[in-house]
Amino acid sequence: MAVKIGRNDPCWCGCGKKYKMCHENFDRKLEQFRQKGYAVVDHSCIKTPAQVEKIKESCAINVAVLDYVGEHIAAGVSTEEINRWVHEETIKRGAIPAPLDFNGYPKSVCTSINEVVCHGIPSENEILKEGDIINIDVSTIYHGYFSDSSRMYCIGNVSEEKKKLVEVTKECVEIGISKVKPWEPIGNMGHAVHQHALDNGFTVVREIGGHGVGLEFHEDPWVSFVSEENSGVLMVPGMMFTIEPMVNMGEAAIWTDEKDGWTVRTKDGKPSAQWEVTVLVTETGCEVICW
Ligand code: MF3
Ligand code: CO
Repeated sequence: MAVKIGRNDPCWCGCGKKYKMCHENFDRKLEQFRQKGYAVVDHSCIKTPAQVEKIKESCAINVAVLDYVGEHIAAGVSTEEINRWVHEETIKRGAIPAPLDFNGYPKSVCTSINEVVCHGIPSENEILKEGDIINIDVSTIYHGYFSDSSRMYCIGNVSEEKKKLVEVTKECVEIGISKVKPWEPIGNMGHAVHQHALDNGFTVVREIGGHGVGLEFHEDPWVSFVSEENSGVLMVPGMMFTIEPMVNMGEAAIWTDEKDGWTVRTKDGKPSAQWEVTVLVTETGCEVICW
């Protein structure tokens, strides 16, 4: 704790209450864990109830946009068409697609087909066909608050092995969610995700992970899905982060296309799947706020 706050001073969280009525006990507990050797996040990662409400409004739009995509996606549709849907469905709700212009990203959504691991750029020339699996990654800014989630879609008849990849990846996220508990290290979550993928003969991408989200697109902490148990920062109430493992059918190795600077593919050309949710750590467990 950088600044010592008096017990009767306003709480650092901005709620307007006195420190002793708000986060004093929380800070004491955090300090006890820190002294025991646990890594702890700083206050900037802890959302206040007022912020959580605002972020949830952003999440509701993110979910509605993904629902729209789910109702319309089909063979014969181009990924540019999906980009238009996402852009229009977002704008008409008074929100902004977070990917557009983010570090120079040229579109409003990421569309990652088959061996594309993530950050696939929509294109008029890319037409969905029967047997494809695709990740649609939507992120929204609403009144300055960020949300982020993604889903997989199977186009028509998909091979059994691809179907299994998509299902197991979803289970990985569900298992991750079940491991989000306050005052436990985040590595326990990432470890369980990884283990479930390995148990099914798959691998998990190491270089790209999840992230804090809410007040910015990408906040601390960085979240690994190949972590050791009892490693990483402590999950504490008010923290918000994504669970978004990228699960590969073959090797875990990836490469980034230098032609567009974004598209990430598997090195062996085998398919990859990803689902993404945003979770809020609560006093008793976790709340999934965006899926
Ligand atoms: N939505 C991605 C994530 O889950 C980030 C995409 S960055 C972009 O973190 F610029 F490609 F949109
Ligand atoms: Co994300």
